[in-house]
Amino acid sequence: MQKKIIILASGNGSNAEKIIDFFESSSAVKVLSVISNKQGAGVFERAKKFEVPSVLFKKKSFETNEVLSYLEELKPDLIVLAGFLLKIPKEFVLKFPNKIINIHPALLPKYGGKGMYGSNVHKAVKESGDLKTGITIHYVNENYDEGAIIFQAEVGLDASDTPETIATKVHALEHQHFPQVIHQILRK
Ligand code: GAR
Repeated sequence: MQKKIIILASGNGSNAEKIIDFFESSSAVKVLSVISNKQGAGVFERAKKFEVPSVLFKKKSFETNEVLSYLEELKPDLIVLAGFLLKIPKEFVLKFPNKIINIHPALLPKYGGKGMYGSNVHKAVKESGDLKTGITIHYVNENYDEGAIIFQAEVGLDASDTPETIATKVHALEHQHFPQVIHQILRK
């Protein structure tokens, strides 16, 4: 039976686009829709390009039953957070156990937790002087960035890297691996 994904994204949506593109002609996996909490987010244009429905929910709708009801109705096999910056309420985790995954732009457990997203992460990595960073794909539980790790990949850094070049390296890793990892999870 065809597996169904729903993507949640707050921003530019480059990962969302890679995932949609990867599964566009797949008979095994379908991206049902994209949810965003951010009006005007780049992800809307990207979804439109592939004719994937997208829906804007205000922050409050995640705290009431609105988004949860929407998800329960569509019955996704996997909910994918691709640059989604709101905290996932506990009820979501309880209703969709091991069915919500997130991508984090660093090697967890380093550089995770509240406030650690996007450029904040890359600035912290730069300040630390670490000679590598990477990506982590993990299950979502009720705490930020603490669910079981599914996959990690690393990339080397050197002194000339800036938060911007680190971001570029990390995005390249994300685009390379995220769709494939989703595919593997859904094949199980
Ligand atoms: C990605 O790098 C993702 O790992 C990060 O936001 C970026 C979104 O980029 N997520 C987090 O920081 C979550 N804590 P995109 O909108 O171009 O896909």
